[in-house]
Amino acid sequence: MKKLIFTTFICVTLIANLSAQKKSIDQRVDSVLQLMTIDEKIGQLNQYNDDWTATGPVRIDNDKVGQIQKGQVGSLLNTVGTERTRSWQKIAMQSRLKIPLLFGQDVIHGYKTTFPIPLAESCSWDLEAIELSARIAATEASASGVHWTFAPMVDIARDPRWGRVMEGAGEDPYLGAKIAYARVKGFQGNLGDVNSVMACAKHFAAYGAAIGGRDYNSVDMSDRLLWETYLPPFKATVDAGVATFMNSFNDINGVPSTGNKNLQRDILKGKWNFGGFVVSDWGSIGEMINHGNVKNDYEAALSAITAGSDMDMESRCYKNNLAKLVTDGKVPIVLIDDAVKRILKKKFELGLFDDPFKYCNAEREKKQLNNPDNAIKAREIASKSIVLLKNENHLLPLSKNIKTIAFIGPLVKALKQNKGFWDVEVPGVDSNFIVSQWEGLKNKVGKNTKLLYARGCNIEGENRDGFAEAVNIAKQADVVILSIGERRDMSGEAKSRSNINIPGVQEELLKVLLATGKPVVVLINAGRPLVFNYTADNAPAILYTWWLGSEAGNAIADVLFGDYNPSAKLTMTFPRSVGQIPIYYSHFNTGRPANSDDNHIYNSSYTDLSIYPKFEFGFGLSYTTFNYSDLKLSQKKMKNDQQIEVSVTITNSGKLDGEEIVQLYLRDRVGSIVRPTEELKDFKKIKLKAGEAKTIQFIIDKEKLSFYNQQLQWVAEPGEFDLMIGASSKDIRLKDSFELIE
Ligand code: NOJ
Repeated sequence: MKKLIFTTFICVTLIANLSAQKKSIDQRVDSVLQLMTIDEKIGQLNQYNDDWTATGPVRIDNDKVGQIQKGQVGSLLNTVGTERTRSWQKIAMQSRLKIPLLFGQDVIHGYKTTFPIPLAESCSWDLEAIELSARIAATEASASGVHWTFAPMVDIARDPRWGRVMEGAGEDPYLGAKIAYARVKGFQGNLGDVNSVMACAKHFAAYGAAIGGRDYNSVDMSDRLLWETYLPPFKATVDAGVATFMNSFNDINGVPSTGNKNLQRDILKGKWNFGGFVVSDWGSIGEMINHGNVKNDYEAALSAITAGSDMDMESRCYKNNLAKLVTDGKVPIVLIDDAVKRILKKKFELGLFDDPFKYCNAEREKKQLNNPDNAIKAREIASKSIVLLKNENHLLPLSKNIKTIAFIGPLVKALKQNKGFWDVEVPGVDSNFIVSQWEGLKNKVGKNTKLLYARGCNIEGENRDGFAEAVNIAKQADVVILSIGERRDMSGEAKSRSNINIPGVQEELLKVLLATGKPVVVLINAGRPLVFNYTADNAPAILYTWWLGSEAGNAIADVLFGDYNPSAKLTMTFPRSVGQIPIYYSHFNTGRPANSDDNHIYNSSYTDLSIYPKFEFGFGLSYTTFNYSDLKLSQKKMKNDQQIEVSVTITNSGKLDGEEIVQLYLRDRVGSIVRPTEELKDFKKIKLKAGEAKTIQFIIDKEKLSFYNQQLQWVAEPGEFDLMIGASSKDIRLKDSFELIE
């Protein structure tokens, strides 16, 4: 006993001295590692869920407190608040080496201040705003004890049946990579600064291509598609210095990602030289048994650690098997050491060895969670995320002098619904801390405007009893605003749906309201692209409002009345029927392209369905109009090491100030591998006053012309390229071409 106390004393003194001696972080990591027993090392690779809330199937089979005291736990997830995290950290400080715990949390679209769901926010194409929302989320979460967010989710998603499309940035790898980079920068700031959290790029990899849009499902994919479409956003997070990665539930071409050595060890830690650590997804190490890839926990642990998964979230396979795997000679200790070092390094970088309670300051928590500026920013970002899909006869913006407005629908007075799937329950904060759409409208209109309300119907179900009252108030109004859509928990993890129509009788309610002859503005609240052909074809004005977060009501009112002129553009293609899925703009031409819906003679079309989406990628209207002119290329031929400067003039040809997202697409006419009909390769979001014109520039370089060829290399092949500048992937305004020469 005396010996143990003495050793402990020496260890603790050693660790304390280390910080004083100003060693490099790597040296400090090595010094700690030298002191660790095998059990303590494995402990660092073990992550448990805190007991008060869960984001996966819970297993309560452990004595958490006892294990933390013994140094057998490296991290906890789903634990927030300075009080709670402090109490866990105190327990960790009772362990022999006093290695601090890491606290991880899904801070996906805000912490206390809820921002628009990431898919909505991506429609802003506003990288600064996106970085800012991540920064604010980090500031709030870090003040509340959180060290690590499991975000950004950077999975490219082309199947709106998959509920998790709400967490990503849509279908396009170029835009997806830019947004992934911005989100990591926002979350991490300068890691170690007390206002930052570690980011986590997830889910590595190709989770967005789950077959049939069914969550947790398999993925079968060519190398070309993986490298060209699904990996670029992940690579961008590495370039941004992301601290951690999370692997994915899916198998990819038969190998579960969690046990996928090619992905994790060869590509991520090898080719990309990623210096952080990889956490498994919830239980995914043990789930390799269900996949049918390993026999038992022992083999699962062997597969995952060999493949490069460093931390085990909740499966307990590492804790129960790694020591034996080392004794059996199956896992070399260097593999364990490497994983431990990666994790310790991040704990050092966060400053937790110097002060384990650095993120547990209750005063700072109170201050950051009550920062009124955050609501202002959330409102701005929410307005930027609303997509104007239709606006016949300039119905919008509404005049502030309207006498009577009927605000109808099951989502008008909803509170929590606006928060979207991944809002965080913050201790001590009212989870209804939100501006409802009703409140937002009330805040906006003056005393002379009368607001009438009727629920009309529920989100789901067949009940039409409320229709009569809704029609009655519609008849009394000058304009009707109808708020319909999904519940917040209809899109998200494990929320795949085969029917993505607007649920229940909500579109029927629209029909009876339109029959009154009153102008109807429809707000569609959703976490994914829905199918709503009746609405799209019949409502005179439609705003796709997604789930906008705590300032939803104010932001929607800003857009309805023109205090913000909508500028967002869709980042996922909206199908007209589930039968078209997967549908995305950057498809191949095929050998028998269909050029219209009228001709089905031996071409690539449906005989019973249009081939065209309802709303295309990049689409979104404004209350003003933009004219595109004067496309100029600095040269029409370029060599590999040269660039072409492209310039184009955009004029605000309408009567209101506004913003336009100018999109540049390329098509490589002939390739050794078939190239898509168009690929987004650049964009600019510009602000123009009414009547103002601006000339903007783009640069074409080799990287923008490259693709992943059959020899598994990025190449730009000589030949002709079409260049298209557009207001959407379909609305191409100007075209030219150039040649890449040897
Ligand atoms: C499972 C989800 O797939 C992942 O995205 C999330 O971070 C973890 N659960 C933890 O909640």
